Amino acid sequence: MNYPSRPTWVDVDLSALNHNLQQAINSCPATQRVLAVVKADAYGHGAIPVTRALQSFGIHDFAVATLEEALELRLAGISDNLLVLGSCFPGQEGAFLQHNLMPTLLDMGTALRLNAEAVSQHRQIKVHLKVDSGMGRVGFLPEQLREFLSKLHEFDGLVIEGFMSHLACADKLNSSVTTDQQGQFRIMLQMVREAGIVPREIHLNNSAGLSGWECPECTMSRPGIMLYGGLPGADFSTVLDLQPVMHLRSCIAQLRQLPAGSGISYGHCYHAADDMQVAVLPIGYADGYNRLFSNCGQGILHRQKIPVIGRVCMDWIMLDVSAVPDVAVGDCVTLLGSADGLSILGDDWAEQLDTISYEVFCRIGSRVPRRYLSL
Ligand SMILES: Cc1ncc(COP(=O)(O)O)c(C=O)c1O
Repeated sequence: MNYPSRPTWVDVDLSALNHNLQQAINSCPATQRVLAVVKADAYGHGAIPVTRALQSFGIHDFAVATLEEALELRLAGISDNLLVLGSCFPGQEGAFLQHNLMPTLLDMGTALRLNAEAVSQHRQIKVHLKVDSGMGRVGFLPEQLREFLSKLHEFDGLVIEGFMSHLACADKLNSSVTTDQQGQFRIMLQMVREAGIVPREIHLNNSAGLSGWECPECTMSRPGIMLYGGLPGADFSTVLDLQPVMHLRSCIAQLRQLPAGSGISYGHCYHAADDMQVAVLPIGYADGYNRLFSNCGQGILHRQKIPVIGRVCMDWIMLDVSAVPDVAVGDCVTLLGSADGLSILGDDWAEQLDTISYEVFCRIGSRVPRRYLSL
């Protein structure tokens, strides 16, 4: 049966995605390609449509976090280069080979398992060797790299297609950690080269890295957040000109005239000071509209910013529309993104919620349909 969905949705603006991609491309030297990070459902924007759009903008290298995310893209017919940034967990080796996926090689144990599987199938698997140049998370430390390189002759099933690392503090433009990481990255790359390996791809920079730091050895950069219009850090607000891609909208389901003194929503943490007009929207924290916005969120309606009042519920929020003329049931309120020349950015939410725009975008719930605005 065909029926309209609840009037709450996300518009994904693909021309803004292209605009941001061009910013990333312009920030890369001509010798580098963009390896677009589309993990976590393209940071909540929808992995398949976003990847297809990026393909149409000329990108053919993609990174996801998990085998499942990679398989989702393969099943959708996306046959481009796919790097899985997370580990290849025990038992997943065959799937990586079967679907022509490149694992990030993080440790010796994984190297042994992948090699054994590839050799047993009389095949080779391309891997990107990840070193820990100072991130303090995953990847070969210098000693572990030395040990791996000394045993290279035992790994006929592996092709070291890429050499990579990840930056911890590139969002701070004057960070000495990044300078140290760049140095360590070069030293470890030299170790790899001296062992006779010539990786086809070399990459270090995320959005912050490529916007503020150089990597002359690199053949690729791995931007994620900047593609989606989020700043990689406050230091970049004047460096980057990004556009929001995600616009969260919901239409007024009820308009209510309430007398002064009325308590609103759970806990009555808001009381009407005067008679007021309240708009009720069919969206709540189950959709990713954070409960911390109780009494302090905002929406854009008829070229004005209007306040959220009372507690954010699981499925509803209330806004004070007393000052907005000609409001009607069905009018659309933008809670994240832009409308009427005004915006409420992922970075604005992040500041209010004491988090980062990455989390803001990823947390917009799966029950909110995504609509794709084409170019
Ligand atoms: C290994 C790796 N590379 C690249 C990225 C993209 O980073 P950003 O979204 O900051 O550009 C991430 C994101 O977390 C990552 O984990």
